[in-house]
Amino acid sequence: MPEIVNAVEMRGIVKRFPGVLANDHVDFDLRQGEVHALLGENGAGKSTLMNVLAGMYKAEEGTIFVDGKRVNFGSPRDAIAAGIGMIHQHFMLVPSQTVTENIILGLSDPRFFLPLDALDKKILALQEQYGLKVDPKAKIWQLSVGEQQRVEILKMLYRGAKVLIMDEPTAVLTPQEVDELFVTLRSMLTRGHSIVFISHKLDEVRAIANRVTVLRHGKVTAAGVTAKGATKAQLAQLMVGREVLFTVKRNPVKAGDVVLSVENVCAENDRGVPALREFGIQVRAGEIVGIAGVAGNGQSELAQVITGLRKCSCGRVVVAGDDIANQDPRSAIRRHVAHVPEDRHHVGSSPGLSLSDNLIMKSYRESPVSRGWVLNRPVIRNQSNHLKNEYDIAAPSVDVQARLLSGGNLQKAILAREMTAGPKLIIAVQPTRGLDVGAIEAVQGVLLREREKGTAILLISEELEEILSLSDRIVGIYEGRNMGELRAEEATLTEIGLMMAGTPRGDAGTR
Ligand SMILES: Nc1ncnc2c1ncn2[C@@H]1O[C@H](COP(=O)(O)OP(=O)(O)O)[C@@H](O)[C@H]1O
Ligand SMILES: [Mg+2]
Repeated sequence: MPEIVNAVEMRGIVKRFPGVLANDHVDFDLRQGEVHALLGENGAGKSTLMNVLAGMYKAEEGTIFVDGKRVNFGSPRDAIAAGIGMIHQHFMLVPSQTVTENIILGLSDPRFFLPLDALDKKILALQEQYGLKVDPKAKIWQLSVGEQQRVEILKMLYRGAKVLIMDEPTAVLTPQEVDELFVTLRSMLTRGHSIVFISHKLDEVRAIANRVTVLRHGKVTAAGVTAKGATKAQLAQLMVGREVLFTVKRNPVKAGDVVLSVENVCAENDRGVPALREFGIQVRAGEIVGIAGVAGNGQSELAQVITGLRKCSCGRVVVAGDDIANQDPRSAIRRHVAHVPEDRHHVGSSPGLSLSDNLIMKSYRESPVSRGWVLNRPVIRNQSNHLKNEYDIAAPSVDVQARLLSGGNLQKAILAREMTAGPKLIIAVQPTRGLDVGAIEAVQGVLLREREKGTAILLISEELEEILSLSDRIVGIYEGRNMGELRAEEATLTEIGLMMAGTPRGDAGTR
């Protein structure tokens, strides 16, 4: 038995934010040469705990030991000096500079003032050791997100990180890039590094981690359990505090007429950069079409163009026979287009209004909810109480402000409102992002029931598993272009991953 050496020990860490106890007496230890996964739902306190370890935040209570010595980090610089480096969810690279420049950025130590060529060589050597392919002379903006992540890892290795903390590193990657990342992580282990792998994805954690610590509401619910023996169901239960089933039942439905036809649409994003390039897609009644893509490849803009929230510079958006491109959101609503938006708090709801007002927002022009300009309060109360029960929205009453609802309950409220309008087409964008597993089941159930009723559904999601389990057809999107489509039954992660990385379907064999 090799001796167990703790690279890091955190004891009794307490970290508060206004109104939130983000870490409540958390213990965590990282052994030398292991991948220790930190698992938990959104908001569980994972990033906070690791930001404390990486010197970004100062804990109010608790102690940290590195290699058995007590440390007190005042900044990330202190942490990296002790061999601890963190790669954040949002990369911190300078787009206009080269890979090499970014790697040495901020290093003031004169021994690092090597000529650039020598630096490139040193970086190439690191790349070779760890399988981190990227051109040292390339500018950051020229790189894919996966390559940028490699630069972040190189930067930390260059600074001598022995412990690498990665905060949800796979969220921005294609399945192939995830595999490549795992190869790199394994080669780091063989060279004596230790890794904290933050994730909310059970399958990944089981694939890469030696041990798992689970956080729920800032507290540890499982401390360093062996990943191998833990089942998905056990880990899910520790994460959400109750039993979770992982089955999605999709009954056969015969697809009907084309409800949505997006034809050669071009649109720009908020920065004026082309986001959709002659993009086309069709969705029929009674089918769910999933869009698979790495975040930022035009998915958000597509949903906005269809729902009237964004202009397009070419192409048509035909809903039930009418072109509604470049009209306002009301013309989509009139054609029974329901929108489950990415931004639940601002686009999807009015945080300052009551749950009840949010529930009837779409029907306020119609009787019996209103007569002329007069709202019929008793009818509204009745209807919203009914929806609260039917959609299982946990709230003390329908009078509470929407902003006080949890993410899952707010999402159920948005669905309840959108579904009561009798949609013919649903544009669902990241419908389960950040929700707990129970709410995810509820939301997916609503979409599947609508499909059986003959509603056409466009599902935009970064969760590939969700796309695979709900969709009838899957379309790949890359840099605003349609990369081809697969029927769900024949789709494999590899094929979807190729489309997500920019290989049009059909080209895979000819590369
Ligand atoms: N800088 C901050 N200011 C205020 N509240 C924060 C801050 N960072 C995190 N929180 C809150 O602390 C809790 C834990 O957040 P976080 O550590 O980011 O969770 P996780 O990484 O597990 O999703 C959440 O309730 C979050 O809203
Ligand atoms: Mg986080």
